[in-house]
Amino acid sequence: MSSQTLAIIKPDSFRNKNTGKIVDRILSAGFEITAMEQQHLSKKRAEAFYDIHSERPFFHDLIVFMTSGPCVPMALRKNDAVSSFRELIGATDPQSARAGTIRKDFAENVQNNAVHGSDSDDNAAKEIAFFFPSLQIRSN
Ligand code: CMP
Repeated sequence: MSSQTLAIIKPDSFRNKNTGKIVDRILSAGFEITAMEQQHLSKKRAEAFYDIHSERPFFHDLIVFMTSGPCVPMALRKNDAVSSFRELIGATDPQSARAGTIRKDFAENVQNNAVHGSDSDDNAAKEIAFFFPSLQIRSN
C-alpha cells in the first residue's frame, strides 16, 4: 500500500548544486513528489523540527547547519515510503552508507549528510504536516 514520507534536501546539497541530481534519483526510484518547496529555515523552525534531538551534543551545530542556507522539503509517495526512502538514502553517516546511496554519493559528513528522511510513519505524518500543513494525506 502506498504511503508518504518527508524528505529534506539539506543546505549542503543545495549549496553544492546537487538538488537536481538528488531529485532525479528520487524520481528514478519510483517516488511521486506530492509537495516540494524551497525554504530557508529560521532558527525557531529548525529547532522545532529537530526538537527530538534538543538534548544531543550536536544539536547546536545541527541548527546552525540547517539554517545556513536554503533547503528543499518534499513529501514523497510510494509503497512503504519510509523504509524505501531510507534504503535509497543510506546510513546517517556517509562513511557507513552503502555504495550507490544518496548519502554515500553526496553527503559531506555525519552532520552535513545531504538529505533527511522520516524514520516512521507516525513521524512522517507529523513532519509532512510541519512543512505542508494543507497537504491531504491519502491512505491508498
Ligand atoms: P537527520 O536524518 O536529518 O536526523 C538528525 C540529524 O542530526 C542527522 O540527519 C544529522 O544531520 C545530524 N546528526 C546525527 N548524528 C550526528 C552526529 N553524531 N554528529 C553530528 N550530527 C549528527
